[in-house]
Amino acid sequence: MHQFDISAGSKAELYHDLHAALDALTADEPDAIANMANAAALLWQYLPDLNWAGFYRLVDGELVLGPFQGKPACIRIALGKGVCGAAAATRETQLVEDVNAFPGHIVCDSESAAELVVPIVANDRLIAVIDLDSPTVGRFDAADRAGVEALADLLAPRLV
Ligand code: SME
Repeated sequence: MHQFDISAGSKAELYHDLHAALDALTADEPDAIANMANAAALLWQYLPDLNWAGFYRLVDGELVLGPFQGKPACIRIALGKGVCGAAAATRETQLVEDVNAFPGHIVCDSESAAELVVPIVANDRLIAVIDLDSPTVGRFDAADRAGVEALADLLAPRLV
């Protein structure tokens, strides 16, 4: 079991500490699934107000459910479908304040109200997306986006 000193201060401090913890957890481990599993557990434990945190991996041209924390979820998502599929197809972060206003949003859990999906790209290849869901409309903001994008950059070379 790992113990981390994670800040309860500003979001910037929280993500700074999460970055350090994720770096420590994954630096010496070459197994992509193990690294995604620990990343999902870390995000789930320390980010408040989430109802799902995890990964979809790009496998044979579609997104397939990867390591996560939360309720059982949709297993396969086509590129371009829903919030995760949009992030994967465009390789652009999707920050959705209210999923009910997102055309084609895939409802895995009707409790989800806001979503942040960040693509992970290594060597110009899409590897996976990080998906965070919250039951609170407007839960994610620019600080969350910047923080999770930095985590995705850290993880990218450790998932190949
Ligand atoms: N709502 C997502 C599907 C994945 S789950 O929320 C875990 C989407 O529209 O891509």
